[in-house]
Amino acid sequence: MNSFTKFPAGFVWGVATSAFQIEGAYQEDGKGPSIWDRFCENPANIKDQSDGSVACDHYHRYQDDVDLIASLGLDAYRFSMAWSRVQPQGKGAWNEKGFDFYARLIDALLAKNIAPHLTLYHWDLPQGLQDDGGWLARDTTARFADYAAQVAHRFGDRLASIATHNEPWCTANLGYGNAQFAPGVADAKQAIQVSHHLLLSHGLAMQAMRAEKCAAPLGIVLNQWTADPATDSAEDKAMAEREYACSVQWFMDPIFKGRYPELALRTHGDKAPYVHADDFRQIQQPLDFLGVNYYFRAFCSAEQPPRQPPTENRRTDMGWEIYPQGLTELLLKLHDEYKLPPIFITENGMANSDQVVHGVIPDVARIDYVRHHLAALFQAMAKGVDVRGYFLWSLLDNFEWNSGYSKRFGIVHVDYATQQRTLKDSAYWYRGFVAEQKTR
Ligand code: NOJ
Repeated sequence: MNSFTKFPAGFVWGVATSAFQIEGAYQEDGKGPSIWDRFCENPANIKDQSDGSVACDHYHRYQDDVDLIASLGLDAYRFSMAWSRVQPQGKGAWNEKGFDFYARLIDALLAKNIAPHLTLYHWDLPQGLQDDGGWLARDTTARFADYAAQVAHRFGDRLASIATHNEPWCTANLGYGNAQFAPGVADAKQAIQVSHHLLLSHGLAMQAMRAEKCAAPLGIVLNQWTADPATDSAEDKAMAEREYACSVQWFMDPIFKGRYPELALRTHGDKAPYVHADDFRQIQQPLDFLGVNYYFRAFCSAEQPPRQPPTENRRTDMGWEIYPQGLTELLLKLHDEYKLPPIFITENGMANSDQVVHGVIPDVARIDYVRHHLAALFQAMAKGVDVRGYFLWSLLDNFEWNSGYSKRFGIVHVDYATQQRTLKDSAYWYRGFVAEQKTR
């Protein structure tokens, strides 16, 4: 990215995390168990047999972590609330000590002029609700709306935004489609029904928060990608169209158009979800913002085994192709297809096999990754897409779900034995880049 490229004044520069991935303190101050606490009890589920019981110990070190964000000169911090910390069973009694933690965190952020952007659900459903059927049970959507209303009531005037869900595609497809994530179910039909309930819960939560006269802008965070055919063959192209319809459009169309995409419904056949007459009216609530998480594109091939993306495209430590131009293409495509509200890039970043060399972490690959993605973002904005901010994933190395602590996404290194935080070169680079953006 050219150093003379300036994002608009007021563009929000931030970092992101989520509760289960950093907080630890999994049984403290009345917190109830979540499905991820339960999922980690089976060591076979997590690559390094680890769990979230301590993670980055952020629950006790939040002030240091807020100071870190402040030292980077950032405007904003995106984090999530652990539902079972504030409502241990996911229904019934609220836990004041849980709310106190988030009140302290929000106050600490505001004291440093860092705007708090909250996500209500980043995958850690209270186990109590899972025992009642989890997201497959329609009633969970009403429980989620109660939780959203409670949070909006208590914190709505102090938050810079509230997102209902983070990446519901993952909750449905990895949690229920292929058992990679909690609760560990592998059943395509259930996954699709769950995706419908997540969308419905989003719509109900939006209405419940509006009824609380919530001052914070409200939206949802979706993980999105373009789908490219591996070749020009009709089969590959059809695969790519289906992929896009069943992922991006599957979540966007109900919210923006009040229906599921025809192609996806045809693809799902008898696995299509059971939908009540009124559901789309509930789901299609106006958004104040759309959060887009971008990591890679889908590369679609009808061949078996499927063709891989061109080998000259490098990969991250997750094995994900590095494809920055996909972010430009995605944003332009969304802009074309939907009447979009302002967008925030709520996540973008890479896992890298970082090594500490004499106290320094030279993560050149990550700097390169972020620079190229910011350049791609800038291009989309220059062509008219209204993007208001960028959140780098992640502030800290953390618990990368079924990869445990084996994958490092942070711009700050965490030594899990001592909990020592060390800024990586990417953190120094990001600080400099943001500072330069602010000089006019
Ligand atoms: C998306 C998820 O929201 C986040 O929790 C995860 O760590 C990153 N992607 C990286 O996989």
